[in-house]
Amino acid sequence: MDYQKLLEMAKEAREKAYVPYSHFKVGACVITGNGNTYKGCNIENSSYGLTNCAERTALFNAYSNGDRKIKAIAVVADTDGPVSPCGSCRQVMYELGGEDLTVILGNMKGDYVVKKAKDLLPYAFSLSDENNI
Ligand code: THU
Repeated sequence: MDYQKLLEMAKEAREKAYVPYSHFKVGACVITGNGNTYKGCNIENSSYGLTNCAERTALFNAYSNGDRKIKAIAVVADTDGPVSPCGSCRQVMYELGGEDLTVILGNMKGDYVVKKAKDLLPYAFSLSDENNI
């Protein structure tokens, strides 16, 4: 898998961010089993809690197109080190992409790290008993 290309597409998605409140743009791009890609950006709201993060926008975009075999997601923001996804997005990544989902976290300078969903969210919530502490 071409991490650089997915990061580049996440950067393109970031340009579409709607961030009148935080001014903090985030971009994400998902790739699925058949090579399709789905972008997403953060979309804020004056009722702040209604904001949708870039990661969830990208994952929902793939699912909305009936493409559920998520292989990897790249995320970028203008951070000093690679961006660190919020807890809500970690939970959604874990559920929609599975515990072995490849998560590529980057920034605008080209730094990046590669993780798995299960590394980012140990003991992820599940309705079954599989992750009980
Ligand atoms: N944000 C994301 O898009 N992804 C994350 O993982 C963390 C935060 C967005 C939400 C909000 O629009 C802005 O960044 C500042 O919190």
